[in-house]
Amino acid sequence: MHDNKNIMKKNKVIKTQWQTPRGTEDIYGINEILKQNIEKTCEEIVGIFNYQKIETPMFEYAEVFKRTVGDTTDIITKELYEFHDKKDRKMALRPEGTAGIVRAIIEHNLLKTRPFNKLYYSGAMFRYERPQKGRQRQFHQFGVENFVSKSHYVDFEIILIAHLILEKLNISAKLVINSLGNFETRTQFSLHLKKYLAKFSRQLSINSQKRLQTNPLRIFDDKIDRTKKFMKDAPKINEFYSQQEKNNFEKIIAMLKKHKINYEIDHTLVRGLDYYTETIFEFVPLELVNNQQSTLIAGGRYDMLMENLGGQNKSGIGFALGIERIIETLKQKKHLPVSDDRPLIFIANLSENGTEKAHDLVINLRKNGFRVEWNIQAQKLSKIFVQSDVFNPDVMIIIGNEEINKNNAQIKVGKTQKTIAINETVTYLRNILKKDK
Ligand code: HAM
Repeated sequence: MHDNKNIMKKNKVIKTQWQTPRGTEDIYGINEILKQNIEKTCEEIVGIFNYQKIETPMFEYAEVFKRTVGDTTDIITKELYEFHDKKDRKMALRPEGTAGIVRAIIEHNLLKTRPFNKLYYSGAMFRYERPQKGRQRQFHQFGVENFVSKSHYVDFEIILIAHLILEKLNISAKLVINSLGNFETRTQFSLHLKKYLAKFSRQLSINSQKRLQTNPLRIFDDKIDRTKKFMKDAPKINEFYSQQEKNNFEKIIAMLKKHKINYEIDHTLVRGLDYYTETIFEFVPLELVNNQQSTLIAGGRYDMLMENLGGQNKSGIGFALGIERIIETLKQKKHLPVSDDRPLIFIANLSENGTEKAHDLVINLRKNGFRVEWNIQAQKLSKIFVQSDVFNPDVMIIIGNEEINKNNAQIKVGKTQKTIAINETVTYLRNILKKDK
């Protein structure tokens, strides 16, 4: 009895170890189908703009992220999955994709060769966050980075790509845009903001009080503090723009207007990563989905990132789209895409004597590019119907004793059913499925 208890206790421990770690998930079924569709749509759109794919490691030297994302950001101070490898080197799982790409550009001198200045990526990112709907510890991003030149045409191109992806996915979202100015502008603004907020420091949350010393701009991001009157009256970044920054921002806004992309200017918009300069933007859904974290796509320009990592003085701009958040948004829609739009053929194997013949037909059809499912174990038609219902096939091919004896197959498409010679199945299917299209 005592032993049994111990065994059960042991099993319980093992069981908990078998769950996915908190904030991670297995992706399968409809989520996997949607994930693939999203990636395919994104790739189609960036292909139109002639971007090339790049894959960087899921972990880098921790310093790569610290130098770029910013020492005082939550992503670095609280959320970085940092570890020492067996030779005691400080490593980190990537919390985002931009830093690794810039590291790769410098390492391989990619900007020397023109085709490598417009890049895209897709993959898992890791942040030790408090998990909630739309916020995980392992999540997936699709992103683009452009290093062609610092021009409002490029800023517009990046925003347009994000806009077209959402349009193609049939998601209505609002573009929120701001310019953070360059490093000097931001420093000036930061000093003024700090001075202004010092008067209200007691009314700020503990977190914002800390930020007042390290990164006052981020106080605009605090859900509660941002609604307070003194925050609404606080100085705004646009009051500090140079003429050039003002002109540049206006040019981008004019292009958005010209090309009918709805936008909202929000001079309190800031980002959780420190590398941004000038244009920053986010796409937020028009309706909140299941109360999940809302930003679907976010990005902006970064003038100093490459130099900070020891590379040349070259500005870049990009964005990343949160695949899980898009999946949740799509799941709210009634018409979900199917995994594979090629028609599905189900071969119903009714008799044990015919299994070999049915299998030959399965192989022949698959070799000819048809999508085929079948029942290996011969069964009654009524049972097969229950099984095939799950697959919802477009074509049923029935092979029973009668068909085997005559070397035939019964082909059922919708309400029409026809008996044809087994060796003519491929031609017959090609014809009817072509007609159906
Ligand atoms: P980010 O705003 O940190 O920017 O992330 C971009 C997007 O990734 C978010 O808008 C959201 O959709 C998704 N995301 C972020 N964190 C999580 C999470 N914990 N769980 C689920 N989804 C999440 C960047 O990462 C920048 N690297 C974007 C960029 C590229 N800027 C310039 N180039």
